[in-house]
Amino acid sequence: MPTFEPELVAESRRDAPQTLVIRQPDDWHVHLRDGAMLSAVVNETARQFARAIVMPNLDPPVTTVVAAEAYRARILAALAPGLAFSPLMTVYLTDSINRGEIERGFASGAFTAVKLYPAHATTNAAQGVTDVRRIYPVLERMQRLGMPLLLHGEVADQHVDIFDREAVFIDRVLTKVISDFPALKIVFEHITTEDAVCFVESTGPHVGATITPHHLMINRNAMFEGGIRPHLYCLPVAKRERHRLALRRAATSGNPKFFLGTDSAPHAVGNKESACGCAGIFNAPVALEAYATVFDEEGALERLEAFAAEHGPSFYGMPLNAGSIVLERTPWQVPSTFAAAGSHVVPFQAGATLDWTYKGRIDDTKRGRRD
Ligand code: DOR
Ligand code: ZN
Repeated sequence: MPTFEPELVAESRRDAPQTLVIRQPDDWHVHLRDGAMLSAVVNETARQFARAIVMPNLDPPVTTVVAAEAYRARILAALAPGLAFSPLMTVYLTDSINRGEIERGFASGAFTAVKLYPAHATTNAAQGVTDVRRIYPVLERMQRLGMPLLLHGEVADQHVDIFDREAVFIDRVLTKVISDFPALKIVFEHITTEDAVCFVESTGPHVGATITPHHLMINRNAMFEGGIRPHLYCLPVAKRERHRLALRRAATSGNPKFFLGTDSAPHAVGNKESACGCAGIFNAPVALEAYATVFDEEGALERLEAFAAEHGPSFYGMPLNAGSIVLERTPWQVPSTFAAAGSHVVPFQAGATLDWTYKGRIDDTKRGRRD
């Protein structure tokens, strides 16, 4: 982990805009996996982010306090020595989940939020919710507790065109949930459409959304450029260009309802380059560089810090991070593969050159803490 002398940073700040020093960000949606894959990928997230909302779609999924605490311990054990990182755990909703378990986990801090996957919508979602009405008693309890609901916002109905599944989810599910639970805190995760942007903008402050680097950078054509590109396949799938542009506008607008969530989702290469490849884009190694490149292209670098490090904590009611990180406007070539779990994973933007380089955290105890 590179470190920076405070004086050096101050010097380069005077020579802006080559160096960007921002409050340390958090990742409000990530898949850290388990076992050997966890050990291989966790430090990519932890070297950039102070905290991360960790998805519970393991096999079997994380549905109890005991399982969440054990998973959290495995994450901490896999961290590089000295790397400060707080995993924020989530619990996986099933039709039959116990309300008391959710309440106990939230009260003890074992669960930060609840994750709803529509059954069969994506990786390890087979035990997800078959009909949202089945979990209404849980939502009622969560609304009372102020516990956030994180939504994989797509219908799993195979009769609905895959590119329409997010918009149909808004119409069939989300509108109803919001009208039945008007005070429930909801994060519409990894949004991919203009419909979702407009919907979130039109709701109250208790409804927010995360936006991934890949949905800001690619549209659906990218999956088919010169042949099929399995490493650009994720769910929700990338949409038309007009949707990507709407996401860019939302992310860089300064609207506090939109915040950073990478949805980094590693799969070993053999599971991607396959007759039936898994959904998921592994962007953790390039996350901050990718967001910085997008904000720079949009002429909105001054709003990167709020998107990456302020809107999420405000939504969740958590303190802002005290530390800072440094990004430099220096071309950086993304590695083409990433060794993991006896195999390898192909990262997002593999082999491409991005305009920004992530230089590391600054130890703020040397600089005086920020408020
Ligand atoms: O592309 C995705 N990959 N979308 C998800 O919702 C799940 C994730 C995974 O776990 O691989
Ligand atoms: Zn995800």
